[in-house]
Amino acid sequence: MKEYVIAILGATGAVGQRLITELAQSKIPVKKIKLLASKRSAGKKLKFKNQEIIVEETTPDSFNDVDLVLSSPGGAISKKFLPEAVKRGAVCVDNSSAFRMEEDVPLIIPGVNDAQLSHHHGIIANPNCSTIQMVAALYPIFKRWGISQIVVSTYQAVSGAGKAAWDEMLDQAKAHLNHQKATANILPTATDRKHYSLAFNLLPQIDVFEKDGYTHEEWKMIHETKKILFNDQNSNCIKVTATCVRVPVEIGHGETVYFIVKNKTATVQDIQEEIKQTPGLILQDDPQNQIYPQPLIAAGNRETFIGRIRADQENLGAFHMWVVADNLLRGAASNTVDIAKCLIRDHLVRVPK
Ligand code: A2P
Repeated sequence: MKEYVIAILGATGAVGQRLITELAQSKIPVKKIKLLASKRSAGKKLKFKNQEIIVEETTPDSFNDVDLVLSSPGGAISKKFLPEAVKRGAVCVDNSSAFRMEEDVPLIIPGVNDAQLSHHHGIIANPNCSTIQMVAALYPIFKRWGISQIVVSTYQAVSGAGKAAWDEMLDQAKAHLNHQKATANILPTATDRKHYSLAFNLLPQIDVFEKDGYTHEEWKMIHETKKILFNDQNSNCIKVTATCVRVPVEIGHGETVYFIVKNKTATVQDIQEEIKQTPGLILQDDPQNQIYPQPLIAAGNRETFIGRIRADQENLGAFHMWVVADNLLRGAASNTVDIAKCLIRDHLVRVPK
């Protein structure tokens, strides 16, 4: 069996750390692992299985002889290094939004559209964490009844903003509890001008604002959903709109998803049954016993949890549901490692000439 030289780019980050453990727990045959980060982390030691691995500063030559790169260093760093990795023959699966909308870059959720992998040119994009859990939950419904419209509101955990933002929120919480002034230098988004405390607060801004008043996170949910389901980021086969909110939860995004099916014969019971039968989805929907998905319970799991499925009493064929998943695993590291498994299964760990 072929063994692979695998590099994890951004290995010290919130997602990077999970990439290491997800890869270690997978059956992917690893010949050698390289852990790459910035100069700041060079020399740090991290564990892969029982081995201690020294983190290296990333340079273009870090990718010489690498077969596969699992990447989560943020958009700017992905943009800088992944083309260098591809030039050196490595196939890259990237968590950032840097390449997601490029035409020759497949945007993949295994089990939904992994057939698209065969068209890759060296870079494959992992969708945004909120898009993954929403589309994974809707996909069996979409396949059976069709979906004409989605209206989603997200409740997104701070870990999705990276390790520094996560630490900042914990410091803010401590400061609030000690009646001290909380400082904010990163949240809601490091690249914007104003910063606010997230602890004991809600921030209706994830990423920067577009000219139309939507945030870029909302834009991503809309256009990524269209690209995944219809292979066209501007498809008018489905209407999608989103409101994204950062909440003071550490791990686990929640989403209220309102959707309208095309075939109006669908019932709540049918939808629950489809979800129960879909691998990777877990139905937690028993209101009489107060059973519904929660971030604290979902954290640490690879599955997508679904509950509160209700029919809109005034609109036939429209339903609500509540979807929760670990954003670092289901929305990032597990999806990335699952893409790597599909690439290996389909003999696609090679950069086409
Ligand atoms: P480092 O820890 O050395 O800064 P997060 O998404 O949690 O913020 O993590 C970002 C990841 O990207 C970290 O592993 C971080 O490494 C890495 N990173 C940041 N800047 C660079 C860079 N210039 N080159 C390579 N990796 C980088």
